[in-house]
Amino acid sequence: MKFGYFDDSKREYVITSPRTPYPWINYLGTQGFFSLISNTAGGYCFYKDARLRRITRYRYNNVPIDMGGRYFYINDNGCIWNPGWSPVKTELDSYECRHGMGYTVITGSKNGLKACATFFVPQNYDGEVQQLVLTNESSVAKTFSLFSFAEWCLWDAQDDCTNFQRNFSTGRVEIKDSTIYHKTEYRDRRNHFAFYTVNDTIDGYDTDRDSFIGLYNGFNDPQAVVAGKANNSFADGWSPIASHYKRITLAPGESKTLVFILGYVEMPAHKKFEADGKTINKEKALAMIDKYNTPEKVAAGLAELKSAWDSLLGILNVNTPDDKVDRMVNIWNQYQCMVTFNLSRSASYFESGIGRGMGFRDSNQDILGFVHQIPDRARERLIDLAATQLPDGGCYHQYQPLTKKGNSDIGGDFSDDPLWMILSVASYIKETGDWSILDENVPYDNDESKAKPMLDHLNASFYHIVNNLGPHGLPLAMRADWNDCINLSCFSDTPGESFQTYTNPKFKAEGGYSKVAESVMVATLFTYVGPNFVGILEHKGLKDEAAKAQAEIDKMKANIMASAWDGDWFLRAYDANGEKMGSKECEEGQIFIEPQGFAIMSDVGKDQGADLRTLKAIDERLNTKFGLVLNNPAFTKYYIQYGEISTYPGGYKENAGIFTHNNAWIICAAAYAGQGDQAFKYYSEIAPAFTEETSDIHKTEPYVYGQMIGGKDAGADIGMQGDHFGQGKNSWLTGTAAWNMVAISQYILGIKPDFDGLSVDPSIPSAWDGFKATRKFRGGVYNITIKNPSHVCKGVKSMTVDGKAVEGNVVPVMGAGEHEVEIVLG
Ligand code: GLC
Ligand code: GLC
Repeated sequence: MKFGYFDDSKREYVITSPRTPYPWINYLGTQGFFSLISNTAGGYCFYKDARLRRITRYRYNNVPIDMGGRYFYINDNGCIWNPGWSPVKTELDSYECRHGMGYTVITGSKNGLKACATFFVPQNYDGEVQQLVLTNESSVAKTFSLFSFAEWCLWDAQDDCTNFQRNFSTGRVEIKDSTIYHKTEYRDRRNHFAFYTVNDTIDGYDTDRDSFIGLYNGFNDPQAVVAGKANNSFADGWSPIASHYKRITLAPGESKTLVFILGYVEMPAHKKFEADGKTINKEKALAMIDKYNTPEKVAAGLAELKSAWDSLLGILNVNTPDDKVDRMVNIWNQYQCMVTFNLSRSASYFESGIGRGMGFRDSNQDILGFVHQIPDRARERLIDLAATQLPDGGCYHQYQPLTKKGNSDIGGDFSDDPLWMILSVASYIKETGDWSILDENVPYDNDESKAKPMLDHLNASFYHIVNNLGPHGLPLAMRADWNDCINLSCFSDTPGESFQTYTNPKFKAEGGYSKVAESVMVATLFTYVGPNFVGILEHKGLKDEAAKAQAEIDKMKANIMASAWDGDWFLRAYDANGEKMGSKECEEGQIFIEPQGFAIMSDVGKDQGADLRTLKAIDERLNTKFGLVLNNPAFTKYYIQYGEISTYPGGYKENAGIFTHNNAWIICAAAYAGQGDQAFKYYSEIAPAFTEETSDIHKTEPYVYGQMIGGKDAGADIGMQGDHFGQGKNSWLTGTAAWNMVAISQYILGIKPDFDGLSVDPSIPSAWDGFKATRKFRGGVYNITIKNPSHVCKGVKSMTVDGKAVEGNVVPVMGAGEHEVEIVLG
């Protein structure tokens, strides 16, 4: 069942019913000011840090769901409604929500009155612009009341929902003309305030929530709206809000456009106030308001936003036999990559914005998905990340976006972290050819006095693995590897202990984690990532270092085959008791997805057929119609030696859920191994556009990936197997975005930047006749035509570039201008 449709020409998803199976959201803003907006206008906004600069309030886990947002209320002679249906939920005569690239348009109509609200954050602007167009489509004049609504958060989102004894007494606002300023704590230690304005006169306002809504009413029946008139309340503590009230009369056919702006302003300490020492100095706010206070300026802002997205999405464009692939690659997957780059895992409808900062491994992987769009910002991000690395190559697991400092509450010792940085830096160089990043001096532990060139950081990363091997010569698992829930040194039996950071006293003397537990996943990640480091050293002319690193990779491969090949797939780990995890010998959790793809892609055991055998086992044991489960059989009891993983009921999250992030690794691996049909099968099981038809089962947005889909075992332990199989959760902020972008564009379609050129090596469904692609790369534009006359999956038979035959499958860097690349598979 569908709840809307893709409008590809406009790059929009059009939602046609407000009752989606879950709120379907969009993100506005890509720089400093961010908003989350659902299809009924729920959500909130913040500046840079969703925890410390929360601008509007939102209640997670609310009943009913998704209450609180930017709402327009209309009282048309007693008929009260919102253009986005919620929160009043009056049945509308028409409803539509268009989520586009950085904007959302919600249109509703009732009794001949149409209200169309466009929401966006303009480029280089710290505010959300909301343009409301009201049209009288009836044949009689209409007079009605309009109310806007926004509820302020008292800046620190965590404190705002816990510290009521203080917060109910601190709220402060200022009102001037049609602008309501929120200035809680501005008098003392804060140098920022927010405002909500409209470009017209108003007939009243409210700034105190209880006056507007009524203590015993809800968002669905605010007493001011019901009464048809504002109270002109002035907030003094409690919960400050901003609501404009206006009486409007429209002749038949007449329209009125109002522009609202919700903005954020920072002031230098010495310029905070007017001469009286207490009134906000509004200079900056007024200049901001002036930028978008007419429909013409709004149109220009939207056009600018659109052209920014045209250029971001103009770098890679494909035309394949499958329009679902095209809309994922050309539009939505790239869009989601930008969102994950900006937000990491901080704020979504599943991430509360107060839990996590920027993850080291997450942010490095995110780079893979968007480096082609904004290489300069990728470079900056890489340097920020590397600056949180420790001199021994270990890394802080997270850093705070406001301070860019490593987060010592979480600390480090996540065994996979350092490797992702080699991969992300390599992908930056491959995209841009900018080798100078390696010479950039980057601090360790944010300490300038410990700065060393980026190349040194990569070296530290590589040898952090080599220097921390266990009894089988495999990398120590430490607190966790990519799988946050495999904590082999935790042995936790006390509720509330953090599986990732708790140190079991028995390992204290060893430095906090077992020196026996080893991660096969990190071993295979090492053999997959390592060659990038070798390639970089070779390019720098560091032959001996390159040979030394290569020897470590070869040794690791041999160790994997000697101790971690289970006969038909690769083991997952050795636990702290030295027992195998992810083996046929295990009672449950016999096979895990994570190590397999990287092993295949680094040819571990290829001469013994390990690659195809592993792919066969994956297909038999892990695949389902909704994607590949993480492990099988699911754990049905708590294995204290494994940590968090077996605390999840089977079929969810890391315990045999369909964790879409690592599905991508198998898609890549199947494509790499020449199994284009198998790769595409897995791709189409999880790619959002392919789930659109089953939105009622999938629940979350059909235009973006979620972290997890309920696996085949979901509910099995309670006699409900199958009920939640295929149900998506945790949409938007997931490494799946970047990795599936890599999987489809670099492995299936096979267009992959390399150090010396653009490698083109598709591994497609054999049924395809071919496809076309345009790729901007290092100053040139490459128009690529792939022909597949013999209907193979993989194998470049011949290639011409600008009419001339070129050996192999790497398009050389041709420089500016357009270049025609023709490839015949066979
Ligand atoms: C989440 C985390 C990511 C981790 C994964 C598996 O997606 O953001 O860092 O690798 O879960 O546990
Ligand atoms: C939990 C989640 C995992 C997430 C981690 C973050 O373990 O299951 O997905 O990455 O928390 O700390």
